[in-house]
Amino acid sequence: MTIEVDTERPVALVTGGGGDIGRAIAIRLARSSAAVAVVDIDERAAAETARRVESAGCKAMVVRADVSSGSETAAFVAEVEDQLGPIGIFANNAGIEGVVAPLHEYPDETFDRLLQVNVKGVFLGLKHVLARMLPRGWGAIVNTASTSAIRGRAGLAGYVASKHAVLGLTRTAALEVLGTRIRVNAILPGPIESRMIRELDEQAGRDKSALRRAGSAAYGRPENIADVVAFLASDAAAHVNGAAWVVDAGMTVP
Ligand SMILES: NC(=O)c1ccc[n+]([C@@H]2O[C@H](COP(=O)([O-])OP(=O)(O)OC[C@H]3O[C@@H](n4cnc5c(N)ncnc54)[C@H](O)[C@@H]3O)[C@@H](O)[C@H]2O)c1
Repeated sequence: MTIEVDTERPVALVTGGGGDIGRAIAIRLARSSAAVAVVDIDERAAAETARRVESAGCKAMVVRADVSSGSETAAFVAEVEDQLGPIGIFANNAGIEGVVAPLHEYPDETFDRLLQVNVKGVFLGLKHVLARMLPRGWGAIVNTASTSAIRGRAGLAGYVASKHAVLGLTRTAALEVLGTRIRVNAILPGPIESRMIRELDEQAGRDKSALRRAGSAAYGRPENIADVVAFLASDAAAHVNGAAWVVDAGMTVP
């Protein structure tokens, strides 16, 4: 069944939409979108986000999918466009943190999974959304990287490697959309009050050296990230393409 949407506003797709940052992005985009599609491997979390998007007065759709699967990504992109119409905004946000461990003890399987979800997942999202956006010639994509895309962090080898790769994919995609009205940017959050940072902090408690470079400034809120994603996805950022947009209250100022 096709969902009736306001064709004057863009359709937004948010992966990892059941998580803290993805949920804030979905709710923020609800203000300016015709509909928000919430994709997550955790269907219950995605459904809760969709409920909040609808409470904000916007249509919502939930898809359970694993972003590291090519067939599932192709299927959810097609399903969203079939149900809601052309995707105008894509928040390519799903990600995992792995474990805190020094490199010489870092588990191979954790490293592999980080590359599968954080790198291949972002690649697949870009691939399948761009294949549809390019013929139309318009749209905005925001990949969620991290300040771990531009600096090392002791104890987070897999995560840091994966987020550096997200920035490389963003820059490559940005060059491939030159001359169109498509823009591809990365957002680089510093530590944000969230399940992910609580988990990393708890693990770092067992190895204090691991996150020592995170700095001592206050952690941000998911809404701080969502506001900047909404800006990057909007016409106000019409001239911003290929940017690595740091949102960390100055924590990584050199
Ligand atoms: N929390 C932070 O401090 C912080 C800082 C910088 C960057 N980030 C990035 O922000 C993004 C969102 O993180 P968050 O803090 O909201 O974490 P989170 O764990 O709350 O949310 C991540 C969401 O992604 C989903 N997910 C995980 N693997 C998936 C898969 N294979 N397929 C589909 N969905 C999957 C999870 O179910 C979860 O709902 C991630 O890319 C993360 O690396 C977070």
